[in-house]
Amino acid sequence: MSDFKDILSSLDAGVMTLTLNRVDKKNAITAAMYAAMADALDAAAVDPAVRAVVIQGHESIFSAGNDIGDFLNGPPATHESPVFRFLRGISTFPKPVVASVCGPAVGIGTTMLLHCDLVYAGDNAAFSMPFVNLGLCPEAASSFLAPQLMGYARAAEVLLLGEPFMAETALEMGLVNRIVPPLEANALAQRQAQKLAAKPLSSLVETKRLMKKGQASVVAERMAEEGVSFGRMLKEPAAREAFGAFMAKRKPDFSKL
Ligand code: COA
Repeated sequence: MSDFKDILSSLDAGVMTLTLNRVDKKNAITAAMYAAMADALDAAAVDPAVRAVVIQGHESIFSAGNDIGDFLNGPPATHESPVFRFLRGISTFPKPVVASVCGPAVGIGTTMLLHCDLVYAGDNAAFSMPFVNLGLCPEAASSFLAPQLMGYARAAEVLLLGEPFMAETALEMGLVNRIVPPLEANALAQRQAQKLAAKPLSSLVETKRLMKKGQASVVAERMAEEGVSFGRMLKEPAAREAFGAFMAKRKPDFSKL
C-alpha cells in the first residue's frame, strides 16, 4: 500500500480506500498520484484481502482533474505513462469500485466515475468534462461511455459545449446513485463498500465481468485511440494557450476557445 501523502491508502474489513489528498491544489492529479493509484489498483486486483475499493476526495473538492503544470512539464508520452496505467487499472478492475464525489469533479475527476460501479455524490458536486474548451478531446473512453450513459444529445452538451452539470442532473443521467449532504458522502460510500465486501467475492467479480463484457474491448480500444489524439492535441496551439492561461493565473475563457 502507498503511504504517499497526496494519495492516502487504507484497508479496513476488505475495503481499500484511496483518498485524493491534495486539497490545497484542489486535488489536481499529478503523474506521481496517478502512479500511486495505478500501483494500488494493480495490487488490489490480485490481493484476496481487498474485496472492494472506495475512491474519495474531500467534502469540498473531488478533483480539478489533471495537474496542468505537471501535464505541461511531462505530458504522457507512452502507453505506460502513469495516467494511462491508472485508466487501464480502473477500467479493468475486477472487483467493485465505489466513488464518493463532492464539490468540483473536472475532466478525469468526472470521467473516472464512468468506470466506478457505485457513485455517491454530495449535493455540492459539480461535474465537467471541458476537454474541447481546453483544446483537447475526451479521455477515459468518455467519448463512448458518456453518449451511452446519457444519450447523444446530452453528451454533446457536456462534451462539445463543455457545459458543467450538477448532482441532480448527474443523478437523472444515471452517473450517480444517490445524493447526500457532502459531509455524509464518504461515510455512505464506505458503508456500501462494506456491504459489498461482505458478499461472496467470486459472485461479485463474475457479475461485474458479465455486466461489462459487452463493452470491455470497445472501452479499451477507444481509450487507446483517445490517448493518441489527446497526446497530439496537448502539443497544439489551442491547448497550449488554454493551459498557459491557467498557469499565468488567467482562468481558461471557455467561451472563446
Ligand atoms: N492543475 C494544477 N493546479 C490546479 C488545478 C489543476 N487542474 N486546479 C486548481 N489548481 C490549483 C490552483 O492553481 C491554485 O493554486 P495556488 O493556490 O497555488 O494558486 C489552487 O489549486 C486553488 O485553485 P483555485 O482555482 O484558486 O480554486 P477555486 O476554488 O477558485 O476553483 C476549480 C476550483 C477546480 C473550479 C478551478 O481550480 C479549476 O477550474 N481548475 C482547473 C480545472 C481544469 O481545467 N482541469 C484540467 C482538466 S484536463
